[in-house]
Amino acid sequence: MENIVSLGLENVVVAQTDLSLVDGQNGLLVYRNHWARDLALHHTFEEVAHLLWYGHLPDQAELAALQEKLSAQRELPAYVKTAIDAIPHDVDMMSALRTGLSLLGGPEFAAWPPTLGQVISLTAKVPTLVAYRYARIAGHAPIAPRTDLGHTANYLYMLKGEEPLAAHVRALDAYLILTQEHGLNASTFAGRVVASTRSDLISSITAALGALKGPLHGGAPSEVTEMIEAIGSKENAEPWMRSRLEAGDRLMGFGHRVYRTYDPRAKALSIIANELAGDDPWFELATHVEAVGLRLLQEFKPNRPLNTNVEFYAAAVMRAIGLPDSLFTPSFAVSRTVGWCAHILEAAAGRIIRPQSTYTGQMPE
Ligand SMILES: CC(C)(COP(=O)(O)OP(=O)(O)OC[C@H]1O[C@@H](n2cnc3c(N)ncnc32)[C@H](O)[C@@H]1OP(=O)(O)O)[C@@H](O)C(=O)NCCC(=O)NCCS
Repeated sequence: MENIVSLGLENVVVAQTDLSLVDGQNGLLVYRNHWARDLALHHTFEEVAHLLWYGHLPDQAELAALQEKLSAQRELPAYVKTAIDAIPHDVDMMSALRTGLSLLGGPEFAAWPPTLGQVISLTAKVPTLVAYRYARIAGHAPIAPRTDLGHTANYLYMLKGEEPLAAHVRALDAYLILTQEHGLNASTFAGRVVASTRSDLISSITAALGALKGPLHGGAPSEVTEMIEAIGSKENAEPWMRSRLEAGDRLMGFGHRVYRTYDPRAKALSIIANELAGDDPWFELATHVEAVGLRLLQEFKPNRPLNTNVEFYAAAVMRAIGLPDSLFTPSFAVSRTVGWCAHILEAAAGRIIRPQSTYTGQMPE
């Protein structure tokens, strides 16, 4: 049989899922029979997590039960905190988060197949890990999680040490909902591969997190702000981006493997970013950079429709909320943990993922 190689597994279908539809031709995103955009604008992090994990939006009692379970399990085990304290400060946030996650792999998470109880406990702890490490690097005492706040409000509270503004919670909630799930992106696929071997939940999530860290995946939003800082002024947008494209570089915050039209998540987030930061000069520069970037990408890659992706507006929203660049990708991990877990529960029931490669080396004599 002749093996046909699909570089980057483009268009290769390797799983069936009930979780989401990513329609790249029409720019549509569905989470289990609901438009992701509507969920982001009208629901909360916990409600959408319930939808993905349990298959339906919760009624009041179901929501209260999930909120209670999540809020009760936010604290980190003492040994995890001690280990994070030992990580040198020049180790980046995502590497420390990967180590922290890995350390959670105690008896609670050893059982196979993974359970919803494990998933809830893990999801509850990821924001605490991020906030704990962030406080340590910033040189102040970590702020303990509160049980009376929702998932997103508590995350912001732990990062900032004060009760967050309702508008900030709403905006971050929308971002976190829009990035909870997205089909077989690289990190979710990595998680599913590990889960398919019947390895434990924490090993699968750690693999997924490693994939998310890469600048072509979840590492992009901080590079968006770096790009906009480097451009600095509207006049410099075209020469700066042109020279990058001439050098064969990629513009961060543009392009997507699946979307051949506008990323629906970017569209929804642009509304929220506009509400929060419409008058901010940085945001004005960012929208100018977006327009110039789109024009230049059309000029340089006329055969490939390249549009603004979610990371562009993720950067704008998180900046407007006052989160520093170092928290952009970790915040993405806070949300995507929900989708990873949902996929891992699905994949754990499936067949081991084991594709093939075509040998291009020499044969022995
Ligand atoms: C997301 C991404 C990794 C998808 O990669 P991909 O599916 O392999 O990309 P495509 O197949 O669509 O690329 C087609 C062409 O467009 C180019 N291209 C894709 N995204 C580009 C970008 N952001 N800037 C410049 N060129 C880009 C590729 O280099 C390729 O050019 P070539 O055919 O001359 O080699 C890619 O678009 C990218 O690197 N974007 C920037 C990083 C980013 O914002 N990531 C967040 C994703 S949500």
